[in-house]
Amino acid sequence: MGYAATDMRKPIIAANWKLNKGPSDTEDFIKSFENKLADLPKGVDIVLAPPFVSLPKATELLAHSKVRVSAQNMSEKDNGAYTGEVSAFMLKEIFVNYVILGHSERRAIYGESDEMINAKILKAHEVELKPIFCIGETLQEREDGKLEDVLRTQITGGLKNVTEKQALDTVVAYEPVWAIGTGVTASPKQAQDAHEFVRSVLTDLYGVSVSEKIRIQYGGSVKADNAAELLGQKDIDGALVGGASLEASSFAELIKNGVVE
Ligand code: 13P
Repeated sequence: MGYAATDMRKPIIAANWKLNKGPSDTEDFIKSFENKLADLPKGVDIVLAPPFVSLPKATELLAHSKVRVSAQNMSEKDNGAYTGEVSAFMLKEIFVNYVILGHSERRAIYGESDEMINAKILKAHEVELKPIFCIGETLQEREDGKLEDVLRTQITGGLKNVTEKQALDTVVAYEPVWAIGTGVTASPKQAQDAHEFVRSVLTDLYGVSVSEKIRIQYGGSVKADNAAELLGQKDIDGALVGGASLEASSFAELIKNGVVE
């Protein structure tokens, strides 16, 4: 098992560090992780998403690496009286490549709506930052039989006015809220079924030749020991990893197990 690279979609594995690792911990991680890169599969995009203050350190240390850097959020505004915000242009200025948008923690704790996430996605594309666009249902929504409605609403809302070309530069991350940080992982079948549905909504929006090329990551308690089975599923094109990405060795092992070459 594991992700067997196809021409169609290159797998992408991203580390979402959330509120962990200031600049010096970021430096320690990157130095240790870079030593392990030679042993990792080549046909995979690897992305690290540290907190804002650690981004300059990460992009500086990774300037000549294949490892890319992502922010965990950004403002949809360019500048002005928005205390505490960071703009897309500021992220570009420090050579950030990706930005995680619409994470369930941003939706649930900070009240981000589909409209707000959509504005951020459009802004990211305007400056050629690649969004990692997160969607996912709560346990209650799944138990109430609303999984497909919730995902369809999030996808169509988040991708409103996003062009075909921009959609191809968007990574979708399916993260069932009940599997995040809980140690409970969606079964490979549950994850594959949801991914297949997500792709079908993308097909409705953009047609099959585009939707077949859009990468859909799974997130929610992905670890070294379940990565192979999850990434082995047909519509799972990578992982967005929280807890298991905080140690360089466990993150490297997860990548090694998840992607077969
Ligand atoms: P865990 O891997 O810790 O469950 O977190 C998943 C996640 O939220 C990644 O964005």
